[in-house]
Amino acid sequence: MACFFRRKIAAELAKTLQQSEDALLPALTAVPVFKKQQSADFKLSLGALRINGILPSSGDIQLQTENLAAQLKPDSVVEDISVGPGLINFKVNRSLLAEKLLEPFGKGEGFNFGLNSELFDTLKRGTTLVEFSSPNIAKKFHAGHLRSTIIGNFIANLKQSLGNNVIRMNYLGDWGMQFGLLGAGFNSFGSMEKLKENPLQHLFEVYVQANEEAEHSEDMKHAAKDFFRQLEQHESQAMSLWQQFREITVKEYQHIYKRLGIHFDVYSGESFYQVQTQEVVRELQSRCLLKISPKGTGVVDLSPNEDMSNICTLLRSDGTTLYITRDIAAAISRKEKYCFDEMIYVTDKSQEYHFNQLFQILLTMGHIWGERCRHVSFGLVQGMKTRTGEVVFLEDVLDEAQARMLHNMNQSNTTKELEDPKDTAEKVGISALIVQDFKGHLQSGYKFDWDRMLQAQGDTGVFLQYTHARLCSLLRRNEGVEGATFNPSCLCEQTGITILQHLLRYDEVLYQSNQDLQPKHLVNFLLKLCHFIASAHRELPVKGSPPEVAQARLRLFGGACSVLASGMRILGITPVQKM
Ligand code: ARG
Repeated sequence: MACFFRRKIAAELAKTLQQSEDALLPALTAVPVFKKQQSADFKLSLGALRINGILPSSGDIQLQTENLAAQLKPDSVVEDISVGPGLINFKVNRSLLAEKLLEPFGKGEGFNFGLNSELFDTLKRGTTLVEFSSPNIAKKFHAGHLRSTIIGNFIANLKQSLGNNVIRMNYLGDWGMQFGLLGAGFNSFGSMEKLKENPLQHLFEVYVQANEEAEHSEDMKHAAKDFFRQLEQHESQAMSLWQQFREITVKEYQHIYKRLGIHFDVYSGESFYQVQTQEVVRELQSRCLLKISPKGTGVVDLSPNEDMSNICTLLRSDGTTLYITRDIAAAISRKEKYCFDEMIYVTDKSQEYHFNQLFQILLTMGHIWGERCRHVSFGLVQGMKTRTGEVVFLEDVLDEAQARMLHNMNQSNTTKELEDPKDTAEKVGISALIVQDFKGHLQSGYKFDWDRMLQAQGDTGVFLQYTHARLCSLLRRNEGVEGATFNPSCLCEQTGITILQHLLRYDEVLYQSNQDLQPKHLVNFLLKLCHFIASAHRELPVKGSPPEVAQARLRLFGGACSVLASGMRILGITPVQKM
């Protein structure tokens, strides 16, 4: 494993610098593979040693680098030491590199590769609550909800893989004035039959129609107001209808999330915290934190000088609460119920200000754990359309991804051998959606493009799946060839070494992803891995090679396949065995 080498190099450095190994480890990282003929595997950054106070930060850094390098000697682990700009490069023994990296795969421990790295020992593990997806009942499931769904799932998977207890929560838009419209609309033109047949579609239609009517009909406006009043007073008939809407929606969503390979531990929602919201208001009042603005609204003053230059409105002038008021109550109840160590909200960046204010209010109320709440935001997606037009439901996107992928697959011969081509097409189609979405920084938006994301060549989810399936096929065809023996010195070609060098970075990539919660590090790592695997397929044949060589290559391909699959799963992609 990568740690073995980092430790060994750090131990030698520790002797020379008279420091502890642990203090040196952060300055020592695997070298990203840029070209296929790269000799260095690890690099020590002198800049980092200066920042950490291990070396004096005065004087010429290059001189310092050369002096330190001159004191280090190659040994049985490190074969070569060289100097770069502000860096010392280490090349490790090739055979040992193959042996140590591929060892776990021979012992059936490959699934854990990189995840049990000592890099993660310094991270505090605990309970992470991730709130994501959070669509609104009877409304459109837009591209922002799709992004929140897949990004939140990635964060939850990553946190879980690194040993945290994770709670996946969906916070539905299931309360507010719009339920007055929906209820009143349903009472006048809804149909129980249609609701059972196609719930999301029907609720959406009813809601759209009710909105239209309310624009010119006082009766509808009045009925909507009245229905919401009934809800707020928990009158049984209105409540029972609302409950049906909610239950039926959750059931539908569960089914669709399953297609995505996603589950939620909790379906919460804005309706859940009505009592607590009142309590929050009372608490703020009694602590004189809730001020009445000139407009008669209830506000919290968040300005540092308490001059009302930065306020947040929690109560309308008629005393009703707002989205943020419910979010404050929700956060406090969640903390009490789940005792989370951190909470992560995933929404588009238009809500950045909202969450900033939320966290500030929590801190103002004395909830210091507000510091451990985090908003992961993302940019806008443009042009998410299907052949039939605009996307209204999540299902539309999944159906389209599946249909398009199936069409592409039908052009190839291997598809005919698949047991369930539709299922494969769906998994591959979803991976295309995910990779397109995760390739860049989340804060930037992108243009949704079916043709580009579904290309088999190039940096797409299809390419990841294709590489995985190809590796599985190679391993299947050679079952039994890979015996117990493994001679690492048979992996001396640069093509194989390149893969190993790349694998050295896997734990660092996961570490970085955990720091900034950006999936692009992992996506780009896996895409690159697939390119290296493609070269290895060409240059390192298994068939026709002497048994020892064939076995060693299979071990390499097996290891690469296992890391690829593990990384894909963290991204939320289900790797396919055949395609
Ligand atoms: N339902 C909201 C929307 O569609 C997202 C909810 C985000 N979470 C929260 N705790 N406010 O915009």
